[in-house]
Amino acid sequence: MAQLAEIRPLARDDNRADFSCGQPELDRFFEHYAGQNQFKLHLAVTYVAVVEGRLAGFATVSVASMERGSVPSARLRRRLPSYPLPVLRLARLGVDTRFQGLGVGRSLLRHVLSLAVEQRTKLGCVGVVTDAKPAAVAFYEALGFVPLEGVREGLLLGAPLPMFLAIDAIAEAG
Ligand SMILES: CC(C)(COP(=O)(O)OP(=O)(O)OC[C@H]1O[C@@H](n2cnc3c(N)ncnc32)[C@H](O)[C@@H]1OP(=O)(O)O)[C@@H](O)C(=O)NCCC(=O)NCCS
Repeated sequence: MAQLAEIRPLARDDNRADFSCGQPELDRFFEHYAGQNQFKLHLAVTYVAVVEGRLAGFATVSVASMERGSVPSARLRRRLPSYPLPVLRLARLGVDTRFQGLGVGRSLLRHVLSLAVEQRTKLGCVGVVTDAKPAAVAFYEALGFVPLEGVREGLLLGAPLPMFLAIDAIAEAG
């Protein structure tokens, strides 16, 4: 199924109204804010997975930065400078409940990782960051994401976990 998903940027006339990933706040973002953030404010770009003509999932990405002290690997931290580091932020990810468990989420994530590699080549990028909802942490861990340095301590129960995947690991896997 996932092989059949076409991944492309959101278009202005995509019908987002009947999309539901089971998280109302993500659905609301997709329906009401993904378009204006992309087309009017230029804050982020949303990529959609299209399966049989339907919007099966979406991933919203933006350019961001992180501090060296948050990089989870001590070895990598030692090699990096102390000013803000360029990263790709996966801001939101959702798969419609009718398409969950079919590989759509993984396909979207792989697309996001390929964008990070492109960013590395064209603009500079040390990795991908995301705030993982507790129920999705294992999904990200399976792709190699690890919590940011020092964030597990002091994290409120149920709060999203900031996670990171280094660009070298992405490029090696790709
Ligand atoms: C989390 C989510 C994006 C996963 O998308 P999906 O299309 O259902 O996932 P896939 O079918 O691509 O699954 C890929 C792999 O991850 C696993 N997986 C899927 N969801 C998982 C989860 N929540 N926790 C752990 N593993 C998960 C699958 O079993 C599969 O593993 P396998 O290849 O070994 O069989 C989707 O379930 C979703 O939209 N959930 C609600 C919103 C949400 O939590 N978004 C993430 C916000 S940070």
